[in-house]
Amino acid sequence: MSDRTSTIDLAGSVYLQPNYFQIQKRINYLVDYYLSVDKLRDRLEDLPLQFNRPQPRLWQPIDWYSITSEQILGIDKQIFLSILIGTINTEAPIRNYTQTSRQYLTKIHPQMAHFVGGSVDENGTLLEPGLWEKEERQHTPVLIKTYQHLTKEKITPQLPSPKTYQPSDNPYEDLYLHGLHRTMTEYGATCLYLWLMAHTTGALQQVFAELVQDEINHMTKFWGFGAWLFPESYVTRICHSLCRFIVLQKSSQISHFQSTKKLVRTFGRMIKVLNWNAWSWSNKAEFTYSFICVMNRLLRWNSTLTPTYLQGLFEENLMVRSGIESPMNI
Ligand SMILES: [Fe+2]
Ligand SMILES: [Fe+2]
Repeated sequence: MSDRTSTIDLAGSVYLQPNYFQIQKRINYLVDYYLSVDKLRDRLEDLPLQFNRPQPRLWQPIDWYSITSEQILGIDKQIFLSILIGTINTEAPIRNYTQTSRQYLTKIHPQMAHFVGGSVDENGTLLEPGLWEKEERQHTPVLIKTYQHLTKEKITPQLPSPKTYQPSDNPYEDLYLHGLHRTMTEYGATCLYLWLMAHTTGALQQVFAELVQDEINHMTKFWGFGAWLFPESYVTRICHSLCRFIVLQKSSQISHFQSTKKLVRTFGRMIKVLNWNAWSWSNKAEFTYSFICVMNRLLRWNSTLTPTYLQGLFEENLMVRSGIESPMNI
C-alpha cells in the first residue's frame, strides 16, 4: 500500500505513514537543498562580512495557527513531543554558551569573539549580545511556542548547567578543544532539525526549516573558521596525541582523547535527553542516517577549503597573535 500523497513539501514527496526508505529519500532531498556545497560556501563567505556589519538572518513568517499534530509524519505524537521537550532543554541557556565561547576567543580573535559573544565592559557586564546569540536566542521560545500549539499546554525549560570558561596555559589548545565541541553541537542540532523536517509537513515543518538554516549557518562558520585557524586535521591531531602518549608515556594537559570522550558523552547526553530509548528502530536508523549524510556533505565541502581560499577569506581579519603560540606549533 502506498500512502504517498500528491503533495510536495520542503522535503519532497509527502507520505502519510513514511517508512525508513521514504524518510531516507526525504533526508537526501533536504541535504541536497539545504547543504549544497554552494550554500555552505556562501554561509562561510558571509562570516567576514558579519564581522563588520552584523545582520541577523531573517526568518520567513510562520502560520502558527495552522500547526496541528496531523503534520507529524511517521513518529508517535508522544515521542515527538518528548523530543521537542528535549530540544527545548538543550537549546537553553544560550547566554551562558555564548559568553563561554567569547572568553575562549577574546585573546585569539577578537572579531570572532564579538560575533559569538558581543561586547562586555571591563567588569564583564554584557553591553551588546553577539550575532550568534541574537540568532540562537530565538530557538527556545520558538520551540516552546511549537509545543504549545501542538498540545495547548504551557511548558517551562529545565535549564542544564553549561560548562564555564576553564583556561589552561595554552589559549590555542583551549580554543581548539572548545571550538571543536561547539562545531559538533551545531552539527548535532543541524542533523536533528533536518530529520524532524523529514518527519513533518506544513507550518510545523517550516519551524524546523528556519531552525535548521540557523544551525547550518553557524556550523558552517565555526567549521570554516576552525579549518583556517587550525589547519592540522582533527584526526591527525588525535594521532599526535596517541604518539605522544605512547612514546613519552604522557598525554598533553587536555588530551584529544579526553576531548573525544567529552564529545561522545555530549552526544550520549543529547540522545538521552531526546528520549532515544523510546524511539522505534526505524526512527533510530533514519536519525543515524541523517548524521552520516550531513557529515558526508560537510567533508565534501571541506575538501574545497584550500589554505589559499581560507587565507583569502580571513587574512584581513588576522588579529593580535603576538605573544600567543602559533597553532602550528602546538
Ligand atoms: Fe539552536
Ligand atoms: Fe546552534
